[in-house]
Amino acid sequence: MPSNIFANSSAFQHLLAHVNDIKETTISQLFEQEPERFTQFSLEAAGLFLDYSKNRLTGTTRDLLLQLAEQQHVEQQRDAMFAGQKVNFTEQRAVLHTALRAPKNQPHFLDGTDINQQIHGVLEQMRVFTEQIHRGEKRGVTGLRFTDIVNIGIGGSDLGPKMVCHALRNIARPDLRMHFVSNVDGHALDAVLRQLNPASTLFIIASKTFTTADTMLNAHSAKRWFLTFFSDAGVSHHFVAVSSNPAAVSQFGIDQKNRFDFWDWVGGRYSLWSAIGLPIALALGFEHFRALLDGACAMDQHFQHAPLAQNMPVLLALTGIWNRNFEECGSISIATYHQDLLYFPNFLQQLDMESNGKCVNRHGQATQTATAPVIWGDVGTNGQHAYFQFLHQGADITPVDFITCIRPQHALPEHHTTLLANCLAQSKALMLGKTAQQAEEELQEQGLSPQQIALLAPHRTFPGNRPSNTILMDTLSPSALGALIALYEHKVTVQGFCWGINSFDQWGVELGKVLAKSIAGTLISSEPDNNHDGSTKGLIARIRERQKSPP
Ligand code: F6P
Repeated sequence: MPSNIFANSSAFQHLLAHVNDIKETTISQLFEQEPERFTQFSLEAAGLFLDYSKNRLTGTTRDLLLQLAEQQHVEQQRDAMFAGQKVNFTEQRAVLHTALRAPKNQPHFLDGTDINQQIHGVLEQMRVFTEQIHRGEKRGVTGLRFTDIVNIGIGGSDLGPKMVCHALRNIARPDLRMHFVSNVDGHALDAVLRQLNPASTLFIIASKTFTTADTMLNAHSAKRWFLTFFSDAGVSHHFVAVSSNPAAVSQFGIDQKNRFDFWDWVGGRYSLWSAIGLPIALALGFEHFRALLDGACAMDQHFQHAPLAQNMPVLLALTGIWNRNFEECGSISIATYHQDLLYFPNFLQQLDMESNGKCVNRHGQATQTATAPVIWGDVGTNGQHAYFQFLHQGADITPVDFITCIRPQHALPEHHTTLLANCLAQSKALMLGKTAQQAEEELQEQGLSPQQIALLAPHRTFPGNRPSNTILMDTLSPSALGALIALYEHKVTVQGFCWGINSFDQWGVELGKVLAKSIAGTLISSEPDNNHDGSTKGLIARIRERQKSPP
């Protein structure tokens, strides 16, 4: 795979000089100088509209960023990914989640074999299963229809389906309640189990590896709970698995006919398009799950075929690289102005930070530059009354992605006008700010004394010049959501390609998992603890001591 060191490319060096050249220019000044700026820095693709004009970048900046993408061989790396080459080079795996959402007639080759048949085989298994549940043909062991579905999984086996089920709850079937248990904290499982009738509950154990300790403990506890009501024979009616590990599924006691397969070329955080999306199909109906896949596929087509200069994921990625590596912004806030996108920031957090939270490049060297930013956020307008103060006047500059839809799916039009007005007002305020002179004039108009004005004006001044993107969807439909998720997946991928890192492994989460096993042993042991560092040892001793005394 061709790859240059990011910081050594000539475009990177030119960008370093260029950021200095425009350091005195504000975003507002760019709008004054360029009457066509909005048109020139916005585009439409796969039903989404992206406005990136409120970033502090010029046409020259964009040209240099596009040169950077070319020098980093973004197109070749993208094509290699779609062609099934092993771009996940530390695990020697292909990265083909895009094949999961492609139409049936589009072949996808992996090591010379067309994987289309396996993909559509599992999709068909999901469709049939979903329809059997919906029609009441598949029931619990006593003959009751299912009313509750509990997805037990974590990370990519939880965040994607949970986010989508919530985002599209407006079109969800009213006869099925969805529950998601991810945390190993027993409070999570306990709170869900208390609400359930075991006779009408279906458990989905979702784990690619079927070895993730958190999921397996939750799964075993759920099964134990179920077996307090029913015999082993009931398990096959009430437990299904989504996993690429058939042996572990059988060992758990789930029949292979109740296993939905997926493959090592689907990364956990890219897996909602696979059978990991089963809760989505169950909650919404299979046709809506298919529409979600189709929306993502439309974005894939655009990403694969649009020239870099008109390619939405590429431009979103390059704008992010500009803000991260040249404007030195350490985080991005995701502000979803749609209540149902509540879990979208969490989902993006895993997608971006697990993919690009790496400081070693493909040559095994330190990257020398920053990589993934911190991703955080919440729904608007809630965030405005919590952390937007920091965005407007904090000492750090944090770019914001505003995401909203033009048409709501409720009959409260005045709410939607207010929501949209707030969304647009925030990005405008972040860009324009308020000068000291404007603040002073306002205070004079309010009749304040010169001393009061001198005291207050600095606090009522907003620096402005704070960057943001705005993404508009017509309405939050399954296809628009599919396109939105795929947009961010490809954004993250393009950034990884530019930085020369592997966006598809996650070795960084291993160490903590290994240590947790050893600490768990020490916590329940009464032997002297000689295995841990001073702090861990001290904490373990305190916990052991306190657990001995009555509550
Ligand atoms: O936390 C690491 C991770 O491997 C994620 O990448 C993955 O989504 C999650 O754990 C769950 O893994 P599994 O589906 O194998 O249980």
